[in-house]
Amino acid sequence: MTSSIRFLMCSAHHYEVDYVINPWMEGNIHKSSRDRALEQWQQLYNVLTQHATVDLVKPQIGVPDMVFTANAGLVLGDTVVLSRFFHKERQGEEPFFKQWFEEQGYTVHELPKDLPFEGAGDALLDREGRWLWAGYGFRSELDSHPYLAKWLDIEVVSLRLMDERFYHLDTCFCPLTDGYLLYYPPAFDAYSNRLIEMRVPEAKRIAVEEADAVNFACNAVNIDRTIVMNIASDSLKDRLAKVGFEVLETPLTEFLKAGGAAKCLTLRVTEPVEPAVHASAAVESRTIRLEGHLLDSGLINRALDLVVEGGGSFQVLNFDLGEQRQSTSSAEVKVSAPSHDVMEKIMSQLIDIGALTLPQEACDVRLEAVPQVGVAPDDFYVTTIYPTEVRVNGEWVKVEGQRMDGAIAITSTAGGFVARCKLLRDLQLEDQVVVGVEGIRTIRKPESRDQRATQEFSFMGAGVSSERRVELVVEQIAWELRKIRDQGGKVAVTAGPVVIHTGGGEHLSRLIREGYVQALLGGNAIAVHDIEQSLMGTSLGMDMKRGVSVRGGHRHHLKAINTIRRCGSIAQAVEQGILTNGIFYECVRKGVPFSLAGSIRDDGPLPDTKMDLLEAQADYARLIEGADLILMLSSMLHSIGVGNMTPAGVKLVCVDINPAVVTKLSDRGSVESVGVVTDVGLFLSLLVQQLSKLTSPYQAA
Ligand code: ARG
Repeated sequence: MTSSIRFLMCSAHHYEVDYVINPWMEGNIHKSSRDRALEQWQQLYNVLTQHATVDLVKPQIGVPDMVFTANAGLVLGDTVVLSRFFHKERQGEEPFFKQWFEEQGYTVHELPKDLPFEGAGDALLDREGRWLWAGYGFRSELDSHPYLAKWLDIEVVSLRLMDERFYHLDTCFCPLTDGYLLYYPPAFDAYSNRLIEMRVPEAKRIAVEEADAVNFACNAVNIDRTIVMNIASDSLKDRLAKVGFEVLETPLTEFLKAGGAAKCLTLRVTEPVEPAVHASAAVESRTIRLEGHLLDSGLINRALDLVVEGGGSFQVLNFDLGEQRQSTSSAEVKVSAPSHDVMEKIMSQLIDIGALTLPQEACDVRLEAVPQVGVAPDDFYVTTIYPTEVRVNGEWVKVEGQRMDGAIAITSTAGGFVARCKLLRDLQLEDQVVVGVEGIRTIRKPESRDQRATQEFSFMGAGVSSERRVELVVEQIAWELRKIRDQGGKVAVTAGPVVIHTGGGEHLSRLIREGYVQALLGGNAIAVHDIEQSLMGTSLGMDMKRGVSVRGGHRHHLKAINTIRRCGSIAQAVEQGILTNGIFYECVRKGVPFSLAGSIRDDGPLPDTKMDLLEAQADYARLIEGADLILMLSSMLHSIGVGNMTPAGVKLVCVDINPAVVTKLSDRGSVESVGVVTDVGLFLSLLVQQLSKLTSPYQAA
């Protein structure tokens, strides 16, 4: 029965490592021995002819990799899809393989030019004939997969390769008789691993270790219960033996120097067609349009990176380069993804950076009803901080209340459709929620290199400052704060207790007193520390003047809380003349609203602290409404909360001693946020100093 199995091989007479197109070839140019290669090839041939028939195609001078017949094409039944090599070094092989298949009477399919696909190197039939596993990422393009499905009338499962050492699917993946699978999981991305695990039950998955993988153990020829390969570790042989497979080792070290082994050197040309299976490929494609300073701002790179990192692939259909410094460019890009899910993920990220999905004309948003109060439909579009518009009944409607991580709810009113960002918990049964990625666009301010250089808040870009630059940054922030105050604008401050520990309390108090702050957001801790310092001169029991702990000082903290609780609230403590200085004293005096959001670790808490977090979130949102600038002072938690509520366009200044926190907070993909890595007490003292240097024309004294 095995005699009906045929392989195609090509002798190693002209084999050589002549160029480098994969990492194995590096350092190996002209390093292989022709004699040893011929001998190893012959041994493989001998082994295979004991189990199957081997056909030969004539080797040709000048195409040394032709020995790897796995890359001739992909055969199923009497149909072949010819390879289109990615590298020009191998494209010379194409006509020779084509000729061979035509002479044998195969129906030959050729992919469009510029659509790389490397045959059975990147496409492996499940040995039960149920579907075709197809690789992409290095040599073969995802867009070739739908052609395979159509021409071979089979389901194609697309797998993304991630490790350049395993650049062809057959270097790390080998379907075996009876539905077993020999493979090296780290060569694939997480999504592909999930696909594999869904199709092949755990008991049938034989994952190899890296040591076997780099010896090309997965590059094996499987005939019934025999597996022919270069070499395998004892443990791998044992595992295979346990499930009934026998390993035949035949050294192929000379071919490893070119990045190939047993499987690469063969092409199975008898692949039975399974009549019950039919074409399907989950690959989806869509076209997007990008406009703006695509090169200048790096937008095009970011978009293409997003596609590839998200597991998709792209083809730039046209690119109109704006030639002057001020002119914008536009591009149309075809994006392909291995499945609908992956496509939607990639698309929503592209929308976030301002891409339009085409065709715009015909597409309204898709809406679905809220299935249950406070729950969005599964596929809901998750909002960002960027101004967003949705197309309803042919009209673009601006989304109100833009914020991060909401859903877009549409309601129809007498005046037309209203679109609003809503938190999940606020969704009502009458809301229609935007799902999918159709008919959504975000408006990103076009940023060219020039604009970035001249905008006031561009001094750091979205970067993080070093100590040396802190003074410079402070000068600019001071300038900005004064301008906002003089124009009657709004500055909100989020602050953590570190402000007090680092001696920044008096400076922040002064900023409030002098009218630079219009809202203060924090938690229980900053207020308790501030009040403890006002009442007792300590912060968590540390004497703030002398920097030493005070005997019994640990009680101060709770005594401060207790005092305010007795008064009824912070405001009442001020009124009763008990609290006479400090940040919160100044807030009360100046009528600056503050909000304290509670947490699990709060002592007391102060009567002002909102232990109902939903209430606190709503309160925060109210207080930052209309802010021109938000100053985030060493409180990651409160600052992240605030960042999510704040739409793009509001300037953010994030100060923290921990660079990671600063990077996280100021990474809004825009020039409007500035990170300052420094001690917050020092920062505030510099800021106050700088402000006092700037005399304002509107200021009395
Ligand atoms: N040097 C060849 C290349 O990089 C090796 C091909 C190996 N073939 C395979 N099916 N993995 O293209």
